[in-house]
Amino acid sequence: MKYTIAVIPGDGIGPEVINQSIKALDAIADVYDHIFIYKEAELGASAIEKTGDPLPEKTIEICKNADAILFGAIGDPKYDNDPAAKVRPEQGLLRLRKELGLFCNVSPVKAYDKLIKNSPLKEDIIAGTDLVIYRELTGGIYFGEKELSKDEQSAFDICSYNVKEISRITHLAFKAAQNRRKKVTLIDKANVLETSRLWRKTVTEIAKEYKDVTLNFLFVDNASMQLILNPKQFDVILTENLFGDIISDEASVIVGSIGLLASSSIGEKNALFEPIHGSFPQAIGKQIANPLASILSASMMLDYLGLKEEADAIQRAVRKSLVLEITTADIQGITTFSATTAKVGDFIADYILHQEDSNMNFKNIHMGQSTII
Ligand code: IPM
Ligand code: MG
Repeated sequence: MKYTIAVIPGDGIGPEVINQSIKALDAIADVYDHIFIYKEAELGASAIEKTGDPLPEKTIEICKNADAILFGAIGDPKYDNDPAAKVRPEQGLLRLRKELGLFCNVSPVKAYDKLIKNSPLKEDIIAGTDLVIYRELTGGIYFGEKELSKDEQSAFDICSYNVKEISRITHLAFKAAQNRRKKVTLIDKANVLETSRLWRKTVTEIAKEYKDVTLNFLFVDNASMQLILNPKQFDVILTENLFGDIISDEASVIVGSIGLLASSSIGEKNALFEPIHGSFPQAIGKQIANPLASILSASMMLDYLGLKEEADAIQRAVRKSLVLEITTADIQGITTFSATTAKVGDFIADYILHQEDSNMNFKNIHMGQSTII
């Protein structure tokens, strides 16, 4: 089959990690006889530099016409350290989410046995964790009216939600739970916030349509504690935009490295796939960034395109790279030396191409030589 993929490398290490995903996808195209047509587009700080706009019109057009969007990373310290900056890279991503209606962000969090020792949390707490976060992505405080007063002595950000926004992601979360362990936990702050009370009422109503799924509630403060005290209690977490942003970074600790967490942002017509990590500016050009989150995003993308077997082939290659310790430096403790970003990508692509080939010479990979003998 033929697919058009919008590729947005973005900022920082975005281009470095996305190059590795392209290697993996090219290998998939080869083995499974597909054609991926990549259309590169600009977003974020790099787009501001070239066009003055963090989300050029052309990018929206490329994304709208693609079967799926693969995105690298966004952000630049130049803007982070300048609170007065009127144009910011992140505005590009937020506008893209809104323009394409990408209302549902899905982040799976699964502990890899091989990496359990990497997590600062105790092994018996995290072993067996398998949860997924459904984060609302186009509403809430992120998109409410915001203002800094003229004298710059006060500011506000309004958080608002309507029933339609809550309902559409709730249905997706319950459907996901039906194919998993049949439990949804709504994370909110219903003891304080009116929007949270609307979430509870709406979600409770919808839950009646999914009799096989259990619904429970947690306040966000308690949930942040529960997530690291006993992550195994969670199956599907459903939450609003800002809480989901915070909870998903926190959950990355369970896996042992934020460099392993992928996410998808789904709308009615489009879908975008990206690592949950940021642009890691300190690492630019050093080839130390972990490409696995980006590569796993490409796997999620294949799944979304209905290419289940192909998605699994990437997952298998990633697991193999962890088992063989062909990993970047962030995954410390399991390897005495680390591979570069590009080397990890090379291995993943090689493994996809030659997975049944027992002649793979893994020692040579470590030494930076040819991977196949
Ligand atoms: C994320 C990021 C973004 C967000 C930033 C870059 C605007 O942290 O995708 O989680 O807060 O949504
Ligand atoms: Mg975030």
